[in-house]
Amino acid sequence: MFERVEPPDCTITWQDREIPARAGESLAAALLAAGINRVRVTGMSGAPRGPFCMMGVCFDCLVTVEGEGARQACMVPVVAGMRASP
Ligand code: FES
Repeated sequence: MFERVEPPDCTITWQDREIPARAGESLAAALLAAGINRVRVTGMSGAPRGPFCMMGVCFDCLVTVEGEGARQACMVPVVAGMRASP
């Protein structure tokens, strides 16, 4: 669904899966470009959520980055070798 404008120049790890990314792009953009559009589930109903607004407003993109939870994937710039999970 999403297509990169520039080619990836590094990789990151999402749930033990290595995916291509571009340093400096948002983690959410990297995940979406890799076809990962569900990054968490809601606490109450278990409904899937994924990046939506891409500008830090909706909080649907909350993930764990390098062991730190509740990070907004759309606000976190990719660093080569980064590890993230739901
Ligand atoms: S996509 Fe909305 S806060 Fe990240």
